[in-house]
Amino acid sequence: MAIKKVYVVGAGLMGAGIAQVAATAGYQVTMRDINDEALDKGMKTIEKSLGKFVEKGKVPEDTAKSALANLKTTKEMSDASDADLVVEAVFEKIELKQEIFMALDEITGPDCILATNTSAISITSIASVTKRPEKVVGTHFFSPVPMMMLCELIYGLQTSTETMEAAKAWAEDIGKETVVVNKDVAGFIANRVGLAMSGMAIDVVAMGVATPQDVDKTMKLGFAHRMGPCETADLTGIDVLMNAMKAIYNETQDERYWPPELMQRMVASGLLGRKTGKGFYDYSSGKQEPYWEL
Ligand SMILES: NC(=O)c1ccc[n+]([C@@H]2O[C@H](COP(=O)([O-])OP(=O)(O)OC[C@H]3O[C@@H](n4cnc5c(N)ncnc54)[C@H](O)[C@@H]3O)[C@@H](O)[C@H]2O)c1
Repeated sequence: MAIKKVYVVGAGLMGAGIAQVAATAGYQVTMRDINDEALDKGMKTIEKSLGKFVEKGKVPEDTAKSALANLKTTKEMSDASDADLVVEAVFEKIELKQEIFMALDEITGPDCILATNTSAISITSIASVTKRPEKVVGTHFFSPVPMMMLCELIYGLQTSTETMEAAKAWAEDIGKETVVVNKDVAGFIANRVGLAMSGMAIDVVAMGVATPQDVDKTMKLGFAHRMGPCETADLTGIDVLMNAMKAIYNETQDERYWPPELMQRMVASGLLGRKTGKGFYDYSSGKQEPYWEL
């Protein structure tokens, strides 16, 4: 079935980004949140982002205008009734996501694909509350969605190949590069690999082997990474990373994902990275300055 109408649940950071890229690519998009404040905030984010793309000459003004014309907002779940694809991007809570998927299963037509943007919850457990697990798929976008090229597509245990192919074609049509995750494992590809590396990088700092600056420099100059693991951790939030590692550890009991003691102490003392002004680096001057001495 051709995807024309897209319904996005959640107008936060990710939902608004997904709605924006889909509307820019010409899809009719309805974005749902629970109150006007969240919807207004989502729309403002989209308008600002489109404005910047136009300013930089990356999106023609006409395209930005039609993107906005392609977008509607709603507080009603029932507006999902004519959607061909739903992308869910609400808080990372399994009970909330399951409640939404149960409702969507009732409201949407039988051919509608139900996708989730979860970063860590199993696709299979979200699909399990529906009567159409073959139509449920993971579409894991990265933040900020309009800038980041990747969409990880994840098979749940019962996702059909047809659903995966339709989701992949849609993600590519809205301008993303895709990777297919063939098994619904904790962390998918990105977090499974990325978090193991973050843990190792923090261990190296904790052991006094090298400063965060030298760990980052090694990965940037030695492996052509655009950012080093310590500065990435500061950007993501040390607490966010720690919770993500614990989530993988809890599922796999794989000790590579047990958050290093240094990480736990940093969280306990509020060294969470950019958002608190200090983490592996000091941001209090407005610039990224070294903070750790060995
Ligand atoms: N932030 C990231 O970098 C990132 C990256 C990849 C994936 N994700 C995943 O994307 C999802 C959303 O994350 P986010 O950062 O956009 O969160 P966010 O907090 O910015 O937005 C979540 C939105 O969902 C809304 N919401 C809550 N209950 C709702 C409901 N019943 N119906 C409709 N809307 C509802 C909230 O009001 C809020 O606006 C999470 O599953 C997260 O793990 C986040």
